[in-house]
This record gives sequence, structure tokens and C-alpha cells, in this order.
Amino acid sequence: MTRFTVNDQPVEYRLDPQTPLLWALRDASNLTGTKYGCGTGRCGACTVDIDGRAARSCQVSIAQVEGAVVTTIEGLSHEREHPVQRAFLAVQVGQCGFCIPGFVMAAAALLRRDPNAGEEMIRATLTNLCRCGIYPRIVEAVRRAGR
Ligand code: FES
Repeated sequence: MTRFTVNDQPVEYRLDPQTPLLWALRDASNLTGTKYGCGTGRCGACTVDIDGRAARSCQVSIAQVEGAVVTTIEGLSHEREHPVQRAFLAVQVGQCGFCIPGFVMAAAALLRRDPNAGEEMIRATLTNLCRCGIYPRIVEAVRRAGR
């Protein structure tokens, strides 16, 4: 049995401890906002927050998060929208939208550490991939959310 917290709720998974966190979240907890893109840690579609840091959940086993606090896009904000989500909407960042939850989670973690992150820091930290090529609008939205 593996126990940790997801979106402020205690969870217990009776899964192989080596199960990737991504699949526990999606399949066992039905938190499908966390996306599967590459499964190799490159695209960032699966980004969640683990103990205050952005992490690629396809590369983390549930055994590694025993006792940790995990937040997914569904639990990012107790309000209707997190400031990063509001900024993404205001700037109309999304095209197909598949990568957006991962970008939002990565951006929220960055802005918690550095609310005034500049373009260089945003581009260096948000290494997620977007096949639609929305990078300039992501930078604009993250800067807007940090103000
Ligand atoms: Fe995890 Fe691509 S699905 S980084």
C-alpha cells in the first residue's frame, strides 16, 4: 500500500510501488487533466507539483512519493481559476490544449519561487513541449500572471 496526498485528499494505492505516478493519478484516481505525451520525461505534459516542485509524473514511481503532497491541475486552485490559468485564458494561449495543464503546473511552481521571473528564466525553466508552437504566448501569459 502506498500512501500520499493528492489535491488535499489522502490517497492509498494498492498498486505495484513502481507504477508511474502519472498512471496512478489517471487510472486509479481519474485525474485525467495530467496528460500522457511521451512517457520518457521529455514533453512535460504529465507535469504535477510534488512538495512544491514541478515534476514529470511519468518519471516518478508512486513509491517515490510515499508521504508526499501531490497537486494536479484539478487541485491547483481552491478558487475557480489560478492566476496562471487566468493569464493563459486572457492571452488565449491554447490551441489544441493538450500541453496546457503541464505548462500551467510548471509555470505555477516557477512563479511561487520567482514571481518576477523574466523571459529568460521562463524559457529556461518551462522546458515543456508544444506541438502547436505557442511558446511566445506562454511567456507572455507567465509574465502577466507574475505581475
Ligand atoms: Fe511525461 Fe512526456 S509524458 S514528460
